[in-house]
Amino acid sequence: MAGITERVYPKEMDRNGVGNIQGVMYEVFTTRYKVARNWLGGYFQEQGRNGNLRILDIACGSGYGTEILSSLGESVGVDLDPEAVEYAQNNYSNPRTSFVEGNADDFDFLESLGKFDAVVSLATVEHVADAQEYMRWIYRALRPGGVSVVCFPSVVTMDWAIPHHKRDISRRAARRLFRKTGFEVKWDFYQNHRLDIRHLINEVTHQDNQIPVPPLVQWLKYYLTHPHHLALRAYETTIGRGIHFGDQEYLLKPLPEADAVPTKARSRAARLRESFS
Ligand SMILES: C[S@@+](CC[C@H](N)C(=O)[O-])C[C@H]1O[C@@H](n2cnc3c(N)ncnc32)[C@H](O)[C@@H]1O
Repeated sequence: MAGITERVYPKEMDRNGVGNIQGVMYEVFTTRYKVARNWLGGYFQEQGRNGNLRILDIACGSGYGTEILSSLGESVGVDLDPEAVEYAQNNYSNPRTSFVEGNADDFDFLESLGKFDAVVSLATVEHVADAQEYMRWIYRALRPGGVSVVCFPSVVTMDWAIPHHKRDISRRAARRLFRKTGFEVKWDFYQNHRLDIRHLINEVTHQDNQIPVPPLVQWLKYYLTHPHHLALRAYETTIGRGIHFGDQEYLLKPLPEADAVPTKARSRAARLRESFS
């Protein structure tokens, strides 16, 4: 079973364990989905639409979130990992959920999923090969009136999360990414926790550790090229208040196509024009 920081399995978690690390993870991960469900419920109600929504939960992990979303309508969960999909089918199936194995980097597969009233993508953008192309696919996958909820870390993760994570995205870079890919932010939400380094060490050395720890050489390589992140960790683990664990979540509305920049080609052309003006 993959580690809990890569994917959570709420039914298997020891929420009162050492330093309550798994309890914090549980809260953070489930809160994201509850926020998404409440936002979408409120948003579509404002639009005079209740129920019967078609929702995609892309990179659904163990499937608990797809089940949360299914209170709003038909919810399709997709994940790369066949074991996660099987677990989701066995643990979170109901008449409004379905689970499919698939790769969010494979645009032919993504296009084959069809259109949705809402695309929910929690803890995914940091995993995909090309974040801009992925967001542009979300734009295309929305039915008229549709919206997306995305969430990803707001803190440094690349030291412990390589190779699962391909990037860290600051709040400012997130806004740039949304603008470039044709979205405006309607609502946002931030979660922030501080994890005590002693509790983290206890968790990762515990026999039932659920947190993936990369090999030492990987940490060293990363810090050699990112010394400021090493300095940040040194600060957090000494005089700071612990390791910062936080994320950023947004309800995104697609801009009308005329205001959006839907393809890479167009944005390159725009850059070229700017450089000659
Ligand atoms: C941190 S988990 C998030 C799961 C769930 N959305 C949640 O918030 O609990 C990331 C998930 O993304 C999946 N994943 C990573 N890369 C993927 C890809 N290219 N296509 C589909 N799923 C992917 C992983 O298997 C993992 O289950």
